[in-house]
Amino acid sequence: MIEPDFILKSYSKTLQNGSFTWSSPSNIALVKYWGKKEHQIPENPSISFTLNDCKTITTLSFSKKEDNDDFSFEVYLDGENKEGFKPKIETFFKRIEAYLPFLKDYHFKIETSNTFPHSSGIASSASGMSTLASCLMSIEKELNPEIIDEYFIQKASFLARLGSGSACRSLEGDLVVWGKHEKIDKSSDLFGVKYPFEVHQNFKNYQDTILLVDKGEKQVSSTLGHNLMHNHPFAQERFKQAHKNLSSLIGVFNNGDLKAFIDIVESEALTLHAMMMTSMPYFILMKPNTLEIINKIWAFREKTNSNVCFTLDAGANVHVLFPEAESELVNEFIKNELVAYCQNGHYICDRIGFGAKQL
Ligand code: DP6
Repeated sequence: MIEPDFILKSYSKTLQNGSFTWSSPSNIALVKYWGKKEHQIPENPSISFTLNDCKTITTLSFSKKEDNDDFSFEVYLDGENKEGFKPKIETFFKRIEAYLPFLKDYHFKIETSNTFPHSSGIASSASGMSTLASCLMSIEKELNPEIIDEYFIQKASFLARLGSGSACRSLEGDLVVWGKHEKIDKSSDLFGVKYPFEVHQNFKNYQDTILLVDKGEKQVSSTLGHNLMHNHPFAQERFKQAHKNLSSLIGVFNNGDLKAFIDIVESEALTLHAMMMTSMPYFILMKPNTLEIINKIWAFREKTNSNVCFTLDAGANVHVLFPEAESELVNEFIKNELVAYCQNGHYICDRIGFGAKQL
């Protein structure tokens, strides 16, 4: 699939108004996307677990307007008008206009809510952008009913990527690859694809408990963060490493080697933070409690031989990953030893899920 394939020549139907509702989850990267080129093209391939419970639900209502001079839309979060969200959506619309020529023909009302608290420090851009892209694709399908499911999902992912890179990994589940990788045939820099190979039972229904260490605004926006990889002294080695780690994960997903999984996933998380610590300007996005949690996880593994491990986003919160078979053991550990390091004791229990759904 190349970019022009996402531009339909003409629509077979017309449409006055209507509305669509979709839900789409967040995702957690195992091999991280950090560094991008122009037009939201990633510097390296990434792979993520799609989450199940942390999601955005969006209703997109649309009505035909007289003129088609400009974008026209209003945005609501939990019923409250959010002028502050408009610039990001305006930028998104500008980036996707070439692929959805009907965008200026309608006035849109975007009503959105998240299942996780807005101020939890969990980025809603992946779930938010993938949900909005799905709603827009529903309109396109109404205008052109010949669109098949495969095209629908690929283009939704393609559009979501133009809103926020990692959002393109939220349309499907349970594992999604984004970025060209030599061992994954259909992988693409333009959209996410479902991981195509066998996955060992050990990784089915994997658990992700998100420990909310710092619920504040992000210290470094992702756009600024990705830009730090331009002229970064270690960038080229890092991009190579991501390719290698994804190659290794293919073997691990096949043979179920949880110890090897842990090594790759934790190294990826720490490398992401190492990139930020060694860029100019430099940042430390972990908090003291992030490190406390990491040390507790390592000590617990040493003591119990558990396969619990951690990964991190570009922030202080910790994603605690573990196989379903260890749920009881690890949940006890989290309650007894880790919750004390969460802000106001807050954490979210989630697990692997299967992507966007029309409601
Ligand atoms: C650290 O997808 O938020 O979570 O494309 O600028 O919107 P933009 O960036 P974004 O970056 C996510 C970075 C990450 C790693 C990952 O999810 O792969």
